[in-house]
Formats: sequence, structure tokens, C-alpha cells
Amino acid sequence: MLKNYARSVPKADSYSWVDAAPEHVTALQHFICADPPKAAYGGLREKYHPRPWELEVQSGLRDLRLPLPDSERLVIALDSAQEVAGAVRLSFDVTGEQMMILAIATRVDLQGQGIATKALQIALDIIERTTVAYALECDIWAKIHRENLRSQKVFAAAGFEWIESVDKSGLDFWARLFSAPDPLGRKVAGV
Ligand SMILES: CC(C)(COP(=O)(O)OP(=O)(O)OC[C@H]1O[C@@H](n2cnc3c(N)ncnc32)[C@H](O)[C@@H]1OP(=O)(O)O)[C@@H](O)C(=O)NCCC(=O)NCCS
Repeated sequence: MLKNYARSVPKADSYSWVDAAPEHVTALQHFICADPPKAAYGGLREKYHPRPWELEVQSGLRDLRLPLPDSERLVIALDSAQEVAGAVRLSFDVTGEQMMILAIATRVDLQGQGIATKALQIALDIIERTTVAYALECDIWAKIHRENLRSQKVFAAAGFEWIESVDKSGLDFWARLFSAPDPLGRKVAGV
């Protein structure tokens, strides 16, 4: 009889989710969400990466100075070795009226296990509590590269929709638009 050597896959729930603090800077500087982790020199000595948005998110997280200002939060998932398994960064926009998911990422060897889905749930929960505290009726925005189908899948599953192109950079605005609940809590009957 064949023995089952399958290793158990860690679930998104098995990490500690914490607010990133100065003590996590070193762990963040090792964080890799890009595959390959660096750009290579291609033709004409120009740097090339097949998915440059992965590098942008990775270096954006690695270069963060902690602690962040009060208008931003970076939540990270730590594994048992205190390494960063995933991260989500959110903030108010410049007007202070809307909220943005600035970055979301999962360590390259842990992708496909639901970590980004969980990170986004946590971010949306923080945003909901923030908007209740300030009585805001705001939309939630993200910029996603149009070829980044994995990220689009994570955001679409959380109720975000494509809004428009940002510019010629390849980034698109996605948003979860605010919809006011019926003030009397009424529901329309189904068929
Ligand atoms: C995009 C990213 C954050 C997704 O993280 P993740 O933890 O792998 O996402 P999840 O495990 O929650 O998966 C969400 C969906 O994407 C799919 N997915 C994840 N990895 C995949 C892969 N390698 N190939 C195909 N689909 C994949 C999952 O199947 C899942 O879909 P499902 O719920 O229908 O099964 C991750 O790929 C990443 O860090 N990419 C680099 C940084 C980046 O692009 N960030 C987003 C900037 S907007």
C-alpha cells in the first residue's frame, strides 16, 4: 500500500497577523513576492522582469520606513520563524475622504493558499471600522496592473470591480463602491 507522504499545507489562518512595527523591518527587507526575485539584464542592457508589478510591490514593501503615519496601516502575516508570509498596506487617499489598498502581497513560496484573500479581508475589516469611526461613506480603491490576473481575482472575489485605466502605465483603478444600506433595513423579495 502506498504511504501518504503529503505534507500539510499551512492555512492562511495559521499565521499571526500583526501591525508592522519597527522590529519587523529586517524581516520585511527579506520579503520576496516576485518571481524571479530580481530583474535581469535583457537586450540593450535594459533591466527586464516578466511581471514588473511584482517587483514594484516587493520593493515598495521592503523600502517602507516604520512606523507608518497614522493615516496608513501595514498588516503582516508572520510565520513561526517570524518571517513575513504576506502583507497588506492601506491608507486614506490624499483627500482623507476615500480609502485605498496600496499594496497586497504573498511570499512567493506560499502563494495560492488563500493568504492574500485573508489579508484583504483583514484590510476591509479595518477600513469598515475606520469608516464607522469617522462616519464616512467612502469607496475603497486599488490600482492593479491589467495583466495581474491573480490580484484581480483576489479583489473581484472581495467585491471590487474594474473602474478605468489610470494612465498608460498599464495600471487600472479597481474599487469597491460604497452602497448605502436601506435606512429601514428593508430587503427586496427574491423570485
Ligand atoms: C496577487 C497575490 C497577492 C495573490 O496572493 P495569494 O496569497 O497567492 O492569493 P490567494 O491564495 O488568496 O489566491 C487568490 C486566487 O488567486 C489564485 N491564484 C493564486 N496563486 C495562483 C497562481 N500561482 N496561479 C494561478 N492562480 C493563482 C487562487 O487560485 C485564488 O483563486 P480561487 O480562490 O478561485 O482559487 C500574489 O500572487 C502576489 O503576491 N503577487 C505579487 C505581488 C502583486 O502582484 N501584488 C498585487 C498588487 S495589486
